[in-house]
Amino acid sequence: MRHPILLGLLALVLGAAGQAGDVTAGARIVVHGTATGALPCMACHGVGLRGNAAIGASALAGLPVATTLAALDAIATGRVGHNYVMKNNAAALTPAERRAVADYLATLKPGG
Ligand code: HEC
Repeated sequence: MRHPILLGLLALVLGAAGQAGDVTAGARIVVHGTATGALPCMACHGVGLRGNAAIGASALAGLPVATTLAALDAIATGRVGHNYVMKNNAAALTPAERRAVADYLATLKPGG
């Protein structure tokens, strides 16, 4: 992907889709994390985001948007949670990134 025109097109597509609540951006964060410190969510929450009981990471698939946003806020500010990596993850996400992830999670089938 070194071609300048392709990069330009990519930037255009990502830019156009880059507003808060963008499901594609949310999916990307879940798989790849962010350049500013959030790890791939599925590393702990599981590939299908169905949770990982062994480390106490809950299922995320199908969570309502408001639930995810409230949980990320509570974890980032230390009101909830015991996992410092998750705390750092929540804190590393910008409001737009939180919204994008929340919108993406809400599109997933719970347990599926
Ligand atoms: C290092 C492992 C790890 C990573 C990576 C991780 N999480 Fe978590 N997450 C946890 C754990 C463990 C919990 C349970 C709360 C706690 O112990 O802090 C949790 C809790 C949550 C909750 C609260 C769920 C609920 O129902 O209360 C949300 C939402 C969440 N994580 C979202 C994310 C997102 C979004 C990402 C990716 C940006 C992410 N997590 C990355 C381990 C992780």
